[in-house]
Amino acid sequence: MWVVDVLKSRRAIHNYIPNKKIPREDFEKIFDTVRYTPSWYNAQPWEFVVIEDEEKKKELQKIAFNQSHVSQASAVICVLGDVNIWRNAEKILKEWVEYWYCKEEKVLAYRNAFTKKRSEQRLREMAIRNVSLACMNILLVAKELWFATCPMLWFNQPSLSDFLELPKEIIPIMMITIWYENTWKERKKLPLKSLDEILHFEKFEKYKNKTAF
Ligand SMILES: Cc1cc2nc3c(=O)[nH]c(=O)nc-3n(C[C@H](O)[C@H](O)[C@H](O)COP(=O)(O)O)c2cc1C
Repeated sequence: MWVVDVLKSRRAIHNYIPNKKIPREDFEKIFDTVRYTPSWYNAQPWEFVVIEDEEKKKELQKIAFNQSHVSQASAVICVLGDVNIWRNAEKILKEWVEYWYCKEEKVLAYRNAFTKKRSEQRLREMAIRNVSLACMNILLVAKELWFATCPMLWFNQPSLSDFLELPKEIIPIMMITIWYENTWKERKKLPLKSLDEILHFEKFEKYKNKTAF
């Protein structure tokens, strides 16, 4: 399928074909493609934990405020972000020299920008922005391979960290349920905002006198 068709036909799916395990090779296909997601400085600050065990999925369902599709899915992908975004800075900078022929002085400037001290909040934001792109790609590649998915934010983050025994620098970004698509039960696309509402050229003038908080 073309990426446009994949994007337009993808839905957040809650119904499923029960008791069908997804072969390891299919997960490998999905994540081998997801690796191509772009990231800041090519830092690739993502990690993925696939949970298939029935008892563990039940635990995850509790963590996700009892959303039933969590335990019903073939698997739950826990998408994680590394807030230590410059963990591999030296290796990455070497690759820039080798692959992009960057000059030494430029690399120095990049190193400074890359490894600059940042607040914890800023580091979390950076991880979330980068890893969210990978999340979207999981949905698209899974759809291309005829898997149904549901991205999920509604879960207790500290509980998921505890459950996965994550080190402090690795944070949960999203949970994604995945299973074989139930093609006979098509889910209608919810209405989308119009182009007029969301597309702006040169300036942004909406909501000027309104505050969200
Ligand atoms: C960031 C994000 C978080 C979401 N969290 C949940 C969730 O916790 N539970 C759930 O059932 N669906 C969740 N969804 C699915 C949305 O409800 C769904 O994508 C939206 O209603 C649009 O429907 P569509 O994906 O079929 O186009 C989430 C989607 C996104 C992008």
